[in-house]
Amino acid sequence: MEVHTNIPLKNFTTMKLGGPAKFMVEVRTPEELQAVYDNAAAKNLPIFILGGGSNVIARDEGFAGIVIRVRIPGFEIVADDINTTTIKIGAGESWDSAVKRTVDMHLSGIEAMSMIPGTAGAAPVQNVGAYGQEIADTLVSLEAYDSQTKSFVVLQNEACGFAYRDSIFRGDQKGRYIITNITLKLSKSLPQPPFYDALQAYFDKLNIKIFTQETVRDAVTAIRTEKLPDPTITPNTGSFFKNAIVENWQLTELQQTYPDMKVFDMGNGTSKIPTGWLIEQTGLKGQVLHGMRVHDKNALVLINESATGYADLAAARDEIIGAVRDKFRIQIEQEPLELS
Ligand code: EPU
Repeated sequence: MEVHTNIPLKNFTTMKLGGPAKFMVEVRTPEELQAVYDNAAAKNLPIFILGGGSNVIARDEGFAGIVIRVRIPGFEIVADDINTTTIKIGAGESWDSAVKRTVDMHLSGIEAMSMIPGTAGAAPVQNVGAYGQEIADTLVSLEAYDSQTKSFVVLQNEACGFAYRDSIFRGDQKGRYIITNITLKLSKSLPQPPFYDALQAYFDKLNIKIFTQETVRDAVTAIRTEKLPDPTITPNTGSFFKNAIVENWQLTELQQTYPDMKVFDMGNGTSKIPTGWLIEQTGLKGQVLHGMRVHDKNALVLINESATGYADLAAARDEIIGAVRDKFRIQIEQEPLELS
């Protein structure tokens, strides 16, 4: 295990921004993780856990601590019955490779989350989701190093505090748990309609009437390729903003002015409004602000075209947030985490 020093974070985050990390280390087993973590904590070094860097924004000043890259491997069937297969996946595995393996095994549950960049261990942190599925729907439990009690723990799904793009791992327990593996229970049944609108539209267009895990993966791959820039080629972090959650009274007001607005009922007196649509209404879609382009195929995505640093990104972000606030009186939120 080698500790590297002064590593430019822009090389490890898909937004391609950020100054140096004082230290960086890769860990490949839970034991290595514990040793590195405890050693750094004993020295009072700030610690940040990094997966694929596809949902993290680094700052110009870098990070005056240690960045731990979790590379723990593993893909193991831990239970199997007539209807389901339960699989334990190492936190360091590529999320999409794991999805592909489950699709090849004809298992259902995460196929619509194909092509999401990043690692399996990062997926629960923001409760990744796409095209009608989110990881909270299939995650049974996960194992993590609890830095408070200095022990490995198993957290069941209910303990993870999953909500839309949220969990305890980025909320009130931020920094406490380091996920080492996740356990997902997947179904042996074929994917069943109704499908997310964009998926169904794709199936209709190609006259696809038999739905398998493969056809869903192929459809999602085609839709994502069309709408989302590939982070390995074009610097971005996927959706840069969360969709907006508004109280229903505010929704009623908005709908008087914008009767055609797309809305998803969240069921608890709140509704989700697509932030991509809100941004589009401000006229910023396709525009470049401080070197950051509001993606012309999906206004939720910011592309780093020529930002000179984090300050440019922050200025662009704040202008977009301000424009949406001025027009709709809705405060939209950044989705990727800040490396700090
Ligand atoms: N829309 C617009 N203008 C835009 C973008 C979207 O009007 O510029 C409208 C669309 O017409 C559609 C609605 O917004 O009616 C939803 O759009 P879409 O299905 O493309 O999804 P999204 O809300 O932009 C979310 C996730 C994506 C996920 C897709 C598909 C968040 C923050 N983003 O995006 O996740 O792939 O749904 O399920 O929830 C990510 O988190 O990085 C990500 C890409």
